[in-house]
Amino acid sequence: MHAKAKYRKDYKNPDFTVTDIYLDFQLDPYKTVVTAKTQFTRLNAESTTLCLDGHSFQFVSIKLNGEDFTSYKQDSESLTLDLSNTNPDQFELEIVTNLVPAENTSLQGLYQSGDGICTQCEAEGFRQITYMLDRPDVLARYTTKITADKTKYPFLLSNGNRIASSDLDDKRYWVEWQDPFPKPSYLFALVAGDFDLLEDHFITKSGRNVKLELYVDRGNLNRATWAMQSLKTAMKWDEERFDLEYDLDIYMIVAVDFFNMGAMENKGLNVFNSKYVLANPETATDADYLAIESVIGHEYFHNWTGNRVTCRDWFQLSLKEGLTVFRDQEFSSDVGSRAINRIKNVKLLRTAQFAEDASPMSHPIRPEKVLEMNNFYTMTVYEKGAEVIRMIHTLLGEKRFQQGMKLYIERNDGKAATCDDFVQAMQDASGVDLKLFSRWYSQSGTPELTITDSYDDKKHIYKLFVSQMTPQTADQMDKANLHIPLKIALYDIKGMPFTLLNGGQAVSDVLDVVLKDQVFEFHGVTSKPVPALLCDFSAPVKLDYDYSREQLITLLKFAHNEFVRWDAMQMLFAQELRRNLTAYQQNMELTFSPELLNALKQVLENYQSNIELTTLILTLPKETEFAELFKIIDPEGIAVVCDFMQRSIAEGLQELWLKTYHEIHLDEYRINMQDIALRGMRNLCLQYLAFTDYGNTLVHKHYTYANNMTDTLSALNAATKAQLTCRDNIMKDFEEKWQHDGLVMDKWFNLQATRPDENVLLLVQQLMEHPSFNFNNPNRLRALVSSFVNQNVRAFHANNGSGYRFLTDILIRLNESNPQVAARLIEPLIRFARYDSQRQTLMKRALERLNEVENLSKDLFEKIEKALQ
Ligand code: TRP
Ligand code: ZN
Repeated sequence: MHAKAKYRKDYKNPDFTVTDIYLDFQLDPYKTVVTAKTQFTRLNAESTTLCLDGHSFQFVSIKLNGEDFTSYKQDSESLTLDLSNTNPDQFELEIVTNLVPAENTSLQGLYQSGDGICTQCEAEGFRQITYMLDRPDVLARYTTKITADKTKYPFLLSNGNRIASSDLDDKRYWVEWQDPFPKPSYLFALVAGDFDLLEDHFITKSGRNVKLELYVDRGNLNRATWAMQSLKTAMKWDEERFDLEYDLDIYMIVAVDFFNMGAMENKGLNVFNSKYVLANPETATDADYLAIESVIGHEYFHNWTGNRVTCRDWFQLSLKEGLTVFRDQEFSSDVGSRAINRIKNVKLLRTAQFAEDASPMSHPIRPEKVLEMNNFYTMTVYEKGAEVIRMIHTLLGEKRFQQGMKLYIERNDGKAATCDDFVQAMQDASGVDLKLFSRWYSQSGTPELTITDSYDDKKHIYKLFVSQMTPQTADQMDKANLHIPLKIALYDIKGMPFTLLNGGQAVSDVLDVVLKDQVFEFHGVTSKPVPALLCDFSAPVKLDYDYSREQLITLLKFAHNEFVRWDAMQMLFAQELRRNLTAYQQNMELTFSPELLNALKQVLENYQSNIELTTLILTLPKETEFAELFKIIDPEGIAVVCDFMQRSIAEGLQELWLKTYHEIHLDEYRINMQDIALRGMRNLCLQYLAFTDYGNTLVHKHYTYANNMTDTLSALNAATKAQLTCRDNIMKDFEEKWQHDGLVMDKWFNLQATRPDENVLLLVQQLMEHPSFNFNNPNRLRALVSSFVNQNVRAFHANNGSGYRFLTDILIRLNESNPQVAARLIEPLIRFARYDSQRQTLMKRALERLNEVENLSKDLFEKIEKALQ
């Protein structure tokens, strides 16, 4: 009954291709008529059957070279044409379909968002519009004519250039667009609606003037300027760092409220989740501003890495996503702080991606087997994919990496490429052997590096003994050795770095770990060193080295590398948590180490030397981050110990938090690095102070005097996490002020869903009836439901199973309305293997209940099946 999985090894060149397609849309929310005139060319002279992908529309008619055509078989997912009675070397198909965008809650294909209509075609959404060879290695030139009501849809947009338009008598009009660049169907886009338009332009380095257009819902123009500025920054950066220039004469971005993911890089016409466009100081936090800059950059960078060079098949997704994430990370690092960005990315990888590796959905960055492609837009393909590109960058260096990029684009421009093509170009341009390295594309799982050391104080020789091992994953039993770049530094106890020498020769600080067991020797080490290992997280691996608290404090104080200082504190926090969790589980008293408190104190006293880094060092990892330290997770215990640590640091340094809080003054809101850093530090102080006697007064005041969303939200967060008396009043005040604005209310929903209160589940259930909530809007669902199941670890895993039942009920509903979002939401439930047997039983029962549901989507089916196997 279910569609069969596809395997990477089964890839075959297409028998037919499409050279040109003319799409005619007669637009209406309740009945859109699509006529697709498609020019086909036969590539395989033997082939006389053509199988087109298509579903979820009403199929009206098909003509071949202008004549009615009847030699076809239709099933639920395709139309197979028998061409044996015609000469199929070159032919035209004309296919008519009817769509109902207003009722398309899946948000794939053509759908209504608010009062507008838009498309989402990646990965396989185009086939919900018409029958098509819907695969990324079929590249065609698109011409699109859109006819619609002029008052409802004064803007009609599609890819490329606007080539014609005309009014019709009956209030309707049409616009025609043409995209000169051949592209796969997943990059097609159409948008119709009424918008406010922000216009600007960009002069490329070769002197071409590119029109920039940003479309937002009416009334939101004052929230569009940052996104536009980010776009111009991104365009300039890509010219300077990658020597890549924009190719069309117009670049459009449309912000929509109903969107399954972050944004989409459709050629010349990006469609964005409004969350990643709209910002002003009253509605967006500093973090929102930075996220917008990064996503705007990401989609823009796809124009070369994704669009001009696209993917041969969906197994190659990381070819464009890993590389483009790497590029957007580099963008954020160049225009902002490199160390801060690195830390944030590593935090994400260590929690979310490592957890995925340990889950039933584990897969290599280039998956081998896919049932529903939407399930593979993952942390692994994106974030680990970017780490793999980053390792290549580390091995080659910037100069040779850029030579590799140049060769990659030269060879593959206008084509559909593979991950192997990318690695080959990097290797050919640099002369660096990447044969062993390329195993990162096919092996899943998180490698573990176990390191011990020895020091000879007579010969001044220091040795590192490095072993690598990748544990089995759900998808792959046997693991081989990888090429792991291990960046290190050695410090003496006063914090002076040793020059790395071997036999009188300077050696690189990046060690090439390639064997199962390997020894690295360093000479001229005049005292026993403290090693800084895996500096900058030079590879996406887990490190096991038995650091003493003193060694970590030495690194925290002296390491030159900012990442190493932060990472030292992470390890100190982890040690503290482990020790206390054991104590908690044995019913013993919890204690906070005075040495750690003292180390934290020294860092805080010196915050002015590096404000943003200090803020990150002093931020206690979240429960979800700590959870990743354990094979079997104790949600209750971790929550209790986290809370204890938070309070210990708050009370232990109470006066210093207060002094620092009052020291920092910011008047007018400005979005620049210095002010973001200062706000971050001041708000961290507030988070800790919330747990002291100063809490209620201070937080209430902070809320009252806030002149920007960063401070407002910080006060609300402090009040809810510390359960302060002022909480209900300020939450109510915020609700009344913003209930008309879903995007802003998402921050409020998130706070409600992550409350530490006993009755939080009941509250969440009630909030699903809130006037600002909308079950069909993925942003609302993520803010309320996903926050609860993913961030409120203790409540979701309540041992009576109430959290699991709640999620299951929602998934049953969502399976019908939006399977793509359902499949993201199910994740915490399929990861049952990491909980105790009582919870496991309850979670499995929930999955079995889901498995019984009629018309289970491929999206959910694939994950449930893997989990229950
Ligand atoms: N390619 C998009 C990006 O990386 C993301 C994307 C893939 C997407 N599938 C989608 C967005 C479906 C929305 C809906 O930016
Ligand atoms: Zn992307």
